Amino acid sequence: MSSPSTPPITSRLPQVGTTIFTVMSALAQEHGAVNLGQGFPDFEGDPTLVDAVAAAMRAGHNQYPPMTGIPALREAIARKITTLYGLPCDPVSEVTVTAGATQAIITAVLALVHPGDEVIVLDPCYDSYEPSILLAGGVPVHVALTPGSFRPDFDAIAAALGPRTRAIIINSPHNPSATVWSADDMRRLAELLRPTSTLLISDEVYEHMVYDGAQHQSVARWPELAARALIVSSFGKTYHVTGWKVGYVVAPAALMAEFRKVHQFNVFTVNTPMQHGLAAYMAEAGPYLGLPAYYQRKRDLFRAGLAGSRLRLLPSEGSYFQVVDYSAISSLGELDFCRFLTQERGVAAIPLSAFYPDAREQGLVRFCYAKRDDTLNQALERLQGL
Ligand SMILES: Cc1ncc(COP(=O)(O)O)c(C=O)c1O
Repeated sequence: MSSPSTPPITSRLPQVGTTIFTVMSALAQEHGAVNLGQGFPDFEGDPTLVDAVAAAMRAGHNQYPPMTGIPALREAIARKITTLYGLPCDPVSEVTVTAGATQAIITAVLALVHPGDEVIVLDPCYDSYEPSILLAGGVPVHVALTPGSFRPDFDAIAAALGPRTRAIIINSPHNPSATVWSADDMRRLAELLRPTSTLLISDEVYEHMVYDGAQHQSVARWPELAARALIVSSFGKTYHVTGWKVGYVVAPAALMAEFRKVHQFNVFTVNTPMQHGLAAYMAEAGPYLGLPAYYQRKRDLFRAGLAGSRLRLLPSEGSYFQVVDYSAISSLGELDFCRFLTQERGVAAIPLSAFYPDAREQGLVRFCYAKRDDTLNQALERLQGL
């Protein structure tokens, strides 16, 4: 008898390997570095929320919930969307609870993108967009945000829009650049999309992290855009519980009906007790309304600590990221500079090149400041003298 062997396979995603986040986190651990690379808090969420989830489990909310999410949570989400952004939202037909934003995005793409359809992504961008498009048989069309400022380049977007463009994916506040789209940006996007049948996937996971008194320009504030959009958010980011992987999508009923056809077969439902806990916790707006002040203070602490260094700080208008230009210090490539920072200085960061398909070099790296003050202070001490 021949020995057992695994048949050869052709990869659906041949270009995908180990992500930079895994690589840098492993390097950080090996060198005892402060990990400001991967984007997650190193502090706990509110115990009230944890208690609400535990109470839901004890109350017996442990079996499959409805496919679309429990009504109380969908109602809380719809109320929030209407209260904050003014968009009427039907919790029955226009809201679905997802297993985080990443599942929401791939589900939206699989539901709406047909083989050969083009989808515009604005680089640099979150790394799940491209594989999602490729798995749907779509064609990613890469348009760079303006180098230096990372503002949307509407001429370039206009040039990329064509009869095969099924959708465009936008993300504000933006990972990794920490820029925030303005009302004028939204107006220009609406003008560009008006004559087209292009759908909009709006990744708004950092919606509550906008600083200096600016307002988050949710697509939900722009009815013309909302009519063609799937708006995605994540409780993981908002409530400091990234490991819970619970998020949601809001979309007009016709789009949502298609979204749910795919959602039903790639997760079916999202875990029940967390939905009950989140629904109860959402009754209070304080936790998310207080987020800008909470993170702005951390941002300011981190920026003040770096002000004396030769790192040039780009603006951090939103999200919990800070991009720095290190070209006054080193001519190393971005990945090598991150290795140097981790190994020699004991602080891990992420190269911006990791967010571009062509891995372009701009002398920029990204830090995450969603960390305890003592973590940030320790990192700042180690970065002294750069
Ligand atoms: C822009 C962006 N979208 C989506 C996500 C993923 O969110 P979730 O953990 O809810 O899947 C992240 C997480 O880093 C992100 O930065």
